[in-house]
Amino acid sequence: MNNKYTLGMIGLGTMGRNLLLNMADKGFAVTGYDKDARMLQKLEEDGKAHNLKGYAVLKDFIQSLELPRRIMLLVPAGQIVDNVIQELVPLLDKGDMIIDSGNSHFTDTSRRAAELDEQGIHFFGMGISGGEEGARFGPSMMPGGDKTAYNTVKPILEAVSAKVNGDPCVAYIGPGASGHFVKMVHNGIEYAMMQILAETYYLLKNGMGYDNEQLYDTFKKWDEGRLKSFLLEVTRDVFKVKDEKTGEYLIDVIEDEAKSKGTGKWTSQVAMDLQLPIPTINEAVSSRDLSKFKQLRVALDAALPHPAEKIDNPLEFEAQLEQSLYFAMITCYAQGLHLLEAASAEYKYELNLKEISQIWRGGCIIRAALLEDIYQAYTQNPKLPHLYADAAIQDKLKEVVPSSRKVIIKAIQNGFAIPAFASAITYYDSFRTANSPLNLTQAQRDFFGAHTFERTDSEGIFHADWNSNNL
Ligand code: 6PG
Repeated sequence: MNNKYTLGMIGLGTMGRNLLLNMADKGFAVTGYDKDARMLQKLEEDGKAHNLKGYAVLKDFIQSLELPRRIMLLVPAGQIVDNVIQELVPLLDKGDMIIDSGNSHFTDTSRRAAELDEQGIHFFGMGISGGEEGARFGPSMMPGGDKTAYNTVKPILEAVSAKVNGDPCVAYIGPGASGHFVKMVHNGIEYAMMQILAETYYLLKNGMGYDNEQLYDTFKKWDEGRLKSFLLEVTRDVFKVKDEKTGEYLIDVIEDEAKSKGTGKWTSQVAMDLQLPIPTINEAVSSRDLSKFKQLRVALDAALPHPAEKIDNPLEFEAQLEQSLYFAMITCYAQGLHLLEAASAEYKYELNLKEISQIWRGGCIIRAALLEDIYQAYTQNPKLPHLYADAAIQDKLKEVVPSSRKVIIKAIQNGFAIPAFASAITYYDSFRTANSPLNLTQAQRDFFGAHTFERTDSEGIFHADWNSNNL
């Protein structure tokens, strides 16, 4: 049993290789497997310092691992994961563990876990966030599956994860597919924050006439304050990069049509299934979809009149925009966390939102100074029904909402498309409205379809004869 490897990685693309290098840096004996000889060569080159070697034959790779085996998959989500599992299973022993670290759909993870459980193999779905840099130097990780099995990989994951104030950005998330579920929602929040930042860019550029240098300076300034976050840093740095081909700023030669790999859409789909509103995340998904209709947008821009798309008083507006951005960011997290709460109840994931906000503070794409406040909110009250219900968050909302309204009104008045900002404020207003107009919806449903309604003054289900003159 001696001299065997502690963990084996299947899939030595950039993410798999970088995570393996990270593990080797932390002193773990690890190896990898890839069908592609170039990937094995690259692993050896990059891992020279640790004498890292991989295998091209699956059987040899499996035999090189200590028991019970810890096998991590970093292969593209979808059918490939099933194919790899199928090849693996005949070579494994009871008690071995497979950790799927790609962005798999959580329902696939549930199915795979159930199938493998019958064969005595532990299957983990683990979201990893932080991109290539994160994998190499410290990602945030969201593992879900059997708790006892988790303890056998815990030291490795804690060692390679990002750290915030010494705390590792990894924690056992919960049973079943909870790890992949939480990573999916992380990505939904990521989509919403990116859309908010895109709308902010548009207002600064087209409304206030800021050039790329001013955009850089503005995002830099904001990132030095309470808005400090990884996505703001990325946004800031985009504006200083020049295109090698034209010498122009790269941002100005990029098409305004965004692609996606699906995790945002899945978040919206699940939220609809759970009947849990996440409108800002939905708008972010729709905005990417709408962006693809470029020809139609160009034609309609010419055909339909629109306001001047100019914002007066730039200095005042810039300050208000910083407040709007802060409000919108709180709202992106609020929606994602609310969805996690609902999913936890529905799927029995036993999610701990305090720990989830803790491990999102570092390493992942949505890391931000604000997560410290969110972590504090869930530390104070682990059963917080909604982020808006926390007193410290309410103080922040009271401060920034008035400016957000001004920004949104001005933007709409001037013809700017700001779906995510607009949805954030209406979401906020809907949640702080004690008496909504949905009594009318109940009445309408009962009127035309006898769907019944509830009364404010007595318990039970009622139906009225709406066409009767007596009513
Ligand atoms: C992360 C990212 C990562 C990936 C997204 C991109 O947490 O490191 O979320 O998983 O960059 O999946 O998603 P789209 O291609 O759909 O924008």
